[in-house]
Amino acid sequence: MTVRAIVLAAGKGTRMKSARPKVMHELCGRPMLWYVVQAVREAGVEDLALVVGPETAEWAASFGGRIVVQRERLGTAHAVGVALEALPARDDGRILIAYGDMPLVTAELFRGVIGALDDPQQPALALVTVKMPLPSSFGRVIRRGPRVERIVEARDATPAELEIDEMNAGIYAFEERALRAVLPELRRDNAQGEYYLTDAVAALAARGRAAVPVICGDHLHVLGINDRIELAAARKEMNARLCAHHMREGVTIVDPATTYLEPGVEIGADTVIFPNTAIGGTTRIGRECIVGPNTRLSSAVLHDRAAVRESVVIESEVGPGASVGPFAHLRGHAVLGEDVRIGNFVEVKNSRLARGVKASHLSYLGDATIGEETNVGAGTITCNFDGARKHPTTIGRRVSIGSNTSLIAPVTVGDEALTGAGAVVTKDVPAGGRVAGNPARPLPPRRTSD
Ligand code: UD1
Ligand code: MG
Repeated sequence: MTVRAIVLAAGKGTRMKSARPKVMHELCGRPMLWYVVQAVREAGVEDLALVVGPETAEWAASFGGRIVVQRERLGTAHAVGVALEALPARDDGRILIAYGDMPLVTAELFRGVIGALDDPQQPALALVTVKMPLPSSFGRVIRRGPRVERIVEARDATPAELEIDEMNAGIYAFEERALRAVLPELRRDNAQGEYYLTDAVAALAARGRAAVPVICGDHLHVLGINDRIELAAARKEMNARLCAHHMREGVTIVDPATTYLEPGVEIGADTVIFPNTAIGGTTRIGRECIVGPNTRLSSAVLHDRAAVRESVVIESEVGPGASVGPFAHLRGHAVLGEDVRIGNFVEVKNSRLARGVKASHLSYLGDATIGEETNVGAGTITCNFDGARKHPTTIGRRVSIGSNTSLIAPVTVGDEALTGAGAVVTKDVPAGGRVAGNPARPLPPRRTSD
């Protein structure tokens, strides 16, 4: 038996008041539709059709499902019909139907509703229902004992029906044959003039085919997003789930409410995340690291025991035991080796700093390569830009760069060399060389004591 999925995402989303399609709005760094597709796949369904409006087709192309464009939005049943035309009919098939604006639905719930079709009464469909506080705009579930007899949309409901607090969550698993048979029977004589998928329940009941409910215990899981207020609520819940996952894996998160994570982030055990910290992209953090407070990591790599405090690290790497901050900025593939120290107001861009390098105060290091145990004095600047092009700076091992040195790139300073405070280095300095001044010139040889 094959299970395929249809995800409906062609709604206009007018309440977002946005030029971006609703399902492409992001929470925790990913579009809401991404989460739905992810959970459907995690539930074991590989073949899925995304029903989208023409304006969303291009956006949705990256999700890997079949894109089906619904040109006229005539309702959820119409949208499913359009998708079924694109899917070759399978006699023993099952179809999972989900809505693209419900990013908090778990794979477990999808699995549950598919599995409910195995019920001995051989239902034509299973659907998720949920208790919700009233009033609510969700469709009401009209029961006959353990079965669902029909669903009435809130706008079509009588006052008595509106008192029912069991809602249609909008997640269904259908026996494919029954779904294909019943869709053409549905009419649009309702308050919204739409073809309602929910009317399939009553139509199948009339044929003697059962609909079984799958009860979801937490209405937050089936929160549909219609505006930016609901988007913020969903983000909060998704973030709480991401934090909980990492805490279960041994990460200490001091304040989950102000720690902002994205899916795809990896964090090793015994790492501590302090408040007001955002960690996103493909960031990988090792064990026993310290991150935050007030820190942003985007596609960063932190090796074990690294510490990044009150700083920004973007697409850069921090070596084992290395320390960054407070108030430092690493970007553009900066790579720090083991035990490097980067202190306050230091920016490092596209540079490699070998083991034990220290740049503790007020520096810009760009397009630089710096050898082991070199000390970069306060206020050192690599002048890598000549107004037209960027140039490299190469500094050897155990070099002492004096405070306020300007290195006019391209330039090389050899191993164990020294620059005096305020040196403006315009020419290469040989290994062991000592220069000072503006422009920097060799210093007289050191006087040896008699
Ligand atoms: C729907 C259910 C309702 C349920 C609620 C849960 C129907 C008729 N009603 O109502 O019982 O309680 O979800 O959230 O299904 N869509 C299309 N094409 C269309 C129309 C809609 O793709 O022509 C998509 C929308 O993008 C959305 C989903 O289908 O993702 C649901 O449509 P919407 O109009 O929002 O239905 P609700 O009023 O929320
Ligand atoms: Mg809706």
